[in-house]
Amino acid sequence: MEWLTVAVAKGRLEKETMKRLKAAGMAQSVDAASRKLIFKDEQDGIAYLFVKPVDVVTYVEKGVADIGIVGSDIILEQGLPVYELMALSFGKCAFAVAGFPETQLYGSEKVLKIATKFPNIAKKYFAGKREVEVTYLNGSVELAPIVGMADCIVDLVETGNTLKANGLVALEKMFDIQAKIVANHTSYGFLYEKIQDFLSNFEQEDDLDAANYIWE
Ligand code: PRP
Repeated sequence: MEWLTVAVAKGRLEKETMKRLKAAGMAQSVDAASRKLIFKDEQDGIAYLFVKPVDVVTYVEKGVADIGIVGSDIILEQGLPVYELMALSFGKCAFAVAGFPETQLYGSEKVLKIATKFPNIAKKYFAGKREVEVTYLNGSVELAPIVGMADCIVDLVETGNTLKANGLVALEKMFDIQAKIVANHTSYGFLYEKIQDFLSNFEQEDDLDAANYIWE
């Protein structure tokens, strides 16, 4: 039997991904409560790898996983050559430039200092708009304006709670993001039927999981 290997992003998207797969009678071998990172559905010939969101596209691009379920933030930031097969109805949030309410993003000659986990997205967004200096941080970026390390941040905003808790506001919405299914170029050809079968588990889903989505 030919096997399909699926990389699933752990964390925020994991619950929604598993909810949909289990509802379709798939991922039966997966025990979400376990610390195990690989599960195999022998009957369906599907293996599931649970990896950090930031690593999903790498596994797919390298061909270790044939397809992956991951946020479009990671896909955009990394720009790796994979096919985007489907946009999903969950994992919805947005990128924003955020900072203190009084921070002016434009109209000053001074270089705008930005802290972010997404340096490529930040640079691309401001290219041609104004001069920026981008500092990469691995997380908790909201701290950067507070401690004077940056004028603002470029980050994901879902509920807005993290910004609020730190006295920051979204100064400019950039664009929406959501979960997507990506595929390895070669696997998409070789495992076409099997991948289409897998996608059909998600096609029927149209309920928007956006109750907390502050931009709508
Ligand atoms: C993400 C993001 C924001 C927060 C936004 O961080 O980078 O910090 O969530 O969510 P909210 O608008 O619902 O508050 P994450 O929780 O992944 O942790 P990190 O900062 O350590 O990367």
